[in-house]
Amino acid sequence: MRYPRVIVHRCGGVLAPENTLAGLRIAARLGCRGVEFDAMLSADGVPVLIHDETLERTTDGRGPVAQQSFAALRALDAGASHAPAYRGEPLPSLEEALRLCDALGLWANVEIKPSAGRDGETGRIVGRLLAERWNGKGVVSSFSMAALAAARQDAPQFDYALLSDAITADWRERLAATGCRAWHCADDADPGAIAALAAAAVPAACYTVNQREGADRLLAAGAVAVFTDRPDLWSSGEM
Ligand code: G3P
Ligand code: MG
Repeated sequence: MRYPRVIVHRCGGVLAPENTLAGLRIAARLGCRGVEFDAMLSADGVPVLIHDETLERTTDGRGPVAQQSFAALRALDAGASHAPAYRGEPLPSLEEALRLCDALGLWANVEIKPSAGRDGETGRIVGRLLAERWNGKGVVSSFSMAALAAARQDAPQFDYALLSDAITADWRERLAATGCRAWHCADDADPGAIAALAAAAVPAACYTVNQREGADRLLAAGAVAVFTDRPDLWSSGEM
């Protein structure tokens, strides 16, 4: 598995509205090679890019994402809450984001982010979409083991990462049980555990690291990559 050293969190980090196509474009213009985004289902089962289960923080909509049709979500403004210059930036579908990553040559971490009670369904639908439409340049992850299992059933050809704050002592068993080949952990994960994964050639990537010093420390400890909201801390040649 190959990782870029720097993965921009939620598409463009703090430089653009999160989980938007504008964020992907900015990441690419900065020379970033990798991006991460969150995929959740609309009421009618279309995966869209959004982090929260509710719309208020990042869009001009209200209430749960899971209660809105894709057509209603696609019509929302996901840009103005970041900055007025982004007014009119839409809330994209996962399919649009995959297409743009392909066009921009971006490596992608698709994080499956099920809303409450929809773990298996979200994993299954995202897995099917990936199998049909994704170029496979990147990795699929989730905090939800049920979502990972469901996605892998329909899309076994891709690489999967277990997403969990800490690297637990039973990491070998957990990776084997889930079929994951990498671990995405929090930036305060035990450096000894990161080194143990590195020694076993299991990629560990740490979120969310917004200071260069912390990132350098984690990479030196054996992490293959860091997720960051601040891609501007690196030059394009370093990413
Ligand atoms: O996938 C890494 C990171 O995005 C996990 O946390 O809450 O930002 O999705 P969150
Ligand atoms: Mg995420």
